[in-house]
Amino acid sequence: MKPAVILYKSLPDDLRAKLDDHFSVTEVKDVSPETVKQHAEQFASAQGLLGSGGKVDDELLAAMPALRACSTVSVGYDNFDVDALNQRHVLLMHTPTVLTETVADTMMALVLSTARRVPELDKWVKAGQWQKSVGPAEFGIDVHHKTLGILGMGRIGLALAQRAHFGFGMNILYNARRQHEEAESRFGARACDLETLLKESDFVCISLPLTEQTHHMIGAAQLKLMKPSAILINAGRGPVVDEQALTAALKDGTLHAAGLDVFEVEPVPADAEILTLPNVVALPHIGSATHETRYGMARDAVDNLIAALNGKVDKNCVNPQIQA
Ligand code: DGY
Repeated sequence: MKPAVILYKSLPDDLRAKLDDHFSVTEVKDVSPETVKQHAEQFASAQGLLGSGGKVDDELLAAMPALRACSTVSVGYDNFDVDALNQRHVLLMHTPTVLTETVADTMMALVLSTARRVPELDKWVKAGQWQKSVGPAEFGIDVHHKTLGILGMGRIGLALAQRAHFGFGMNILYNARRQHEEAESRFGARACDLETLLKESDFVCISLPLTEQTHHMIGAAQLKLMKPSAILINAGRGPVVDEQALTAALKDGTLHAAGLDVFEVEPVPADAEILTLPNVVALPHIGSATHETRYGMARDAVDNLIAALNGKVDKNCVNPQIQA
């Protein structure tokens, strides 16, 4: 008999067929308590769980006593209670490599569009306001040869550094738990403490996961350290930045602009004050959202679940230690 799996994300047809070849699949819309109640039997017998978003916490795990592996279609896994998974010996698989270059592209797009005010001026032209040659009111600020500070030098940070250094001649600073020799040798990146990075960077780019340590890591005090001409880019997780403090800093000129792909609450409420600011470029968490990359993530998530439920995990596992 094929192992039972709960799927809570729709997959491209070929990937769904592959999942069906290996497992007996029940597709549901989400993993909310209501959905779990509605499909209690299927959840109780499932050995695998595949999807993205939604909280996978102790309450959900209690309803899934047969569960052996979760596979998330994302690199981030802050919505999973990893301690609870470990206690129950449930493997957690994710998709860390396939999206690296695409998320770095998104970050570079935010750097360019905030500095050169692309969305704002696009609206301005389309509103018929381009009546004569542009003047200082429409000028932006240069990106090339400026200093870009990266918080979190993981795979995505490295791919961003490559773009910024080779494409735009930028100096790279970084703040990370460990020294990153490759970033230093390839891009001349300089490791520094958070305070130095905030003070010296023209662009501060956040590529950090959300953890207890990174929650509100950037608040009013940190924003004050930045240059008034500086731009903050966040494409990691919204709650790494205190959004209220950021809104205040963008309003009072502490900070020049911000480019945000992530927010403290997602979808960001339509009446959020931060959305009213002209110096904010806002995106709907599209970091990895291209056809090619989202397909690649779904493909990896399917392969990850097959490997995990067959005892063949050699990569993409958050908690491989529980196999021992
Ligand atoms: C991830 O994979 O964690 C991204 O944030 C989703 O786009």
